[in-house]
Amino acid sequence: MNSVIKALNFRHACKHFDLKKKIEKTHMDLIMTAAHLSPSSFGLEAWKFMVISSDDVKKKLRPFCWDQPQITEASHVIVLLSKPDLTVPSAEYVTKNFQRRGLPDDVTKAYIAKYKNHMETEVYPRMNPYAWASKQCYIALANIMTTAASEKIDSCPIEGFEKHGVEKILNIDTSTYEVSVIVALGYRATEQSKRHRHPIEDIVEYIL
Ligand SMILES: Cc1cc2nc3c(=O)[nH]c(=O)nc-3n(C[C@H](O)[C@H](O)[C@H](O)COP(=O)(O)O)c2cc1C
Repeated sequence: MNSVIKALNFRHACKHFDLKKKIEKTHMDLIMTAAHLSPSSFGLEAWKFMVISSDDVKKKLRPFCWDQPQITEASHVIVLLSKPDLTVPSAEYVTKNFQRRGLPDDVTKAYIAKYKNHMETEVYPRMNPYAWASKQCYIALANIMTTAASEKIDSCPIEGFEKHGVEKILNIDTSTYEVSVIVALGYRATEQSKRHRHPIEDIVEYIL
């Protein structure tokens, strides 16, 4: 079987982790490299990943994560932060991101103008900068989970949290960073549950 599909079959939303098993640093480095290599719209990389292994911090986070046991049972909890305000077209961060490509000034200016037009006509009418920046974080989230699964490491994506509570516990400077999504990582303590998926024919349409 294809190795990526093998990993995707192994991955499931793990509800209980083995408290005795911790993820080795080399594996965490590999997983975080996958996050680092993730693509983002316009290459903005408007994100940061907090990797938490402290039992004390996990314990403090759990009440703000619907009291889900995954938070304290996991070997590591990764909090994916986005930088929404830095993605607005007028932000210096945006200009610097386009400039780092080393293109001629007029090409860089044209890129920024295209970005501004895209955000104003397509993105902002439908969603705010936080929602858009968070969408990028979910790409990193998927890569984290698939890479972990390729090393037989389990995960549970977590959207069940109170954003402000999590931000307070982690002392996050919310003028720059906002919590987008969380993922717990470790080794399963119980068997993988039955997977439910709609038939592939119902969700894939080929236009020939
Ligand atoms: C963005 C996202 C957030 C999720 N949040 C939670 C959560 O807070 N707690 C939980 O137990 N599962 C959570 N899940 C897991 C889903 O319920 C699960 O992926 C889905 O039921 C499919 O099951 P599977 O992942 O085992 O195939 C989340 C999944 C995603 C993608």
